[in-house]
Amino acid sequence: MRAIRCVTYGAPSDLKLEEMDDPAPRDGEVVIKTEAAGLGYVDALFVAGTYQVKLPLPFIPGSEVAGTVVALGAGTPEALMGRRVMALSPRGALAEKIALPAASCIPVPGNMSAEAAAGFIVSYCTALYGFETCGALRAGETVLVLGAAGGVGMAAIDVAKAMGATVIAGASTPEKREAAKARGADFAIDYTKPDWRKELEPLTGRRDVDLVYDPVGGDFSETALRCLAPGGRHLVVGFAAGSIPKIPLNLALLKRCAIVGVDWGGYIRANPADNVPLLKTLTKWIVDGRINPEPAASFSLSEAPAVLQSLLERRSVGKPVIRFGG
Ligand SMILES: NC(=O)c1ccc[n+]([C@@H]2O[C@H](COP(=O)([O-])OP(=O)(O)OC[C@H]3O[C@@H](n4cnc5c(N)ncnc54)[C@H](OP(=O)(O)O)[C@@H]3O)[C@@H](O)[C@H]2O)c1
Repeated sequence: MRAIRCVTYGAPSDLKLEEMDDPAPRDGEVVIKTEAAGLGYVDALFVAGTYQVKLPLPFIPGSEVAGTVVALGAGTPEALMGRRVMALSPRGALAEKIALPAASCIPVPGNMSAEAAAGFIVSYCTALYGFETCGALRAGETVLVLGAAGGVGMAAIDVAKAMGATVIAGASTPEKREAAKARGADFAIDYTKPDWRKELEPLTGRRDVDLVYDPVGGDFSETALRCLAPGGRHLVVGFAAGSIPKIPLNLALLKRCAIVGVDWGGYIRANPADNVPLLKTLTKWIVDGRINPEPAASFSLSEAPAVLQSLLERRSVGKPVIRFGG
């Protein structure tokens, strides 16, 4: 099989596209023939070796996969053979085949493409966990999504709209703001401009928002928190800007607001069963057409290093997905 391998931490251009042996399933595992693999900012950090957890070298990058089960290890249900599934794994998705625990395979809803399935689990579960469990979002509230045209941001727009919110997208370029609006955002602002807070009122008739969804961090976070209405919730999702902001705590007191950490990965490691209702809600919304996780563009396996580089350089728009086969 063909696979991308990381043999040394560094730039995506150091990655190698190689021929490798097909994986064999161990007890409790199945082999998935990959149809699509989703990539995120975190995958670029794994390759650079700068994420908080380092993957031991060498490894195949890519943590989200969709495809068909083509081999069964001992102790796995026969009914899985030939099923279209999606799954998460810390590594291994940028390969034509991947062996994974059968228990981690989730059936792909009938009307969902492999590309959509491969880019779905992390960003959409994080969004629903963030808005529902951490943020108690109610229909009619206003949400400001930072980094709105990134993979995590686009899913947040989709989920917040499905929950009945008004969504303001913050993004750095006209192309990104258009993409965020095409995904359903009611308004889009250039949050790289000084005084961007002033743009809220003419858009919504309000000078504040009820929730901030923040996968960006850096200097954006404090300004966004200052946009919160009393009783607002600032959802801390990630730090794509590279620096972890230090927020004056008197702001939380003066605004009577909550600053809430949204660590979906940690949440499901601690409570794996609690992801089941999240996935049930989201797959129902897909079938009902309430959300649309279809990625804007997909790329070939040989383009994966360039895609990872575009994530690092803030050029990526939407959730990037690698497609396999013809
Ligand atoms: N908490 C969780 O459970 C969870 C789950 C998944 C991912 N995450 C985290 O969420 C964050 C976003 O992931 P993603 O896959 O959506 O990434 P992405 O597609 O690259 O989007 C991140 C966005 O951040 C903005 N940004 C601002 N400064 C940046 C910089 N210096 N470099 C790169 N981007 C910058 C960019 O938007 P503009 O150009 O418009 O500013 C970009 O579109 C990551 O930190 C990831 O680790 C957290």
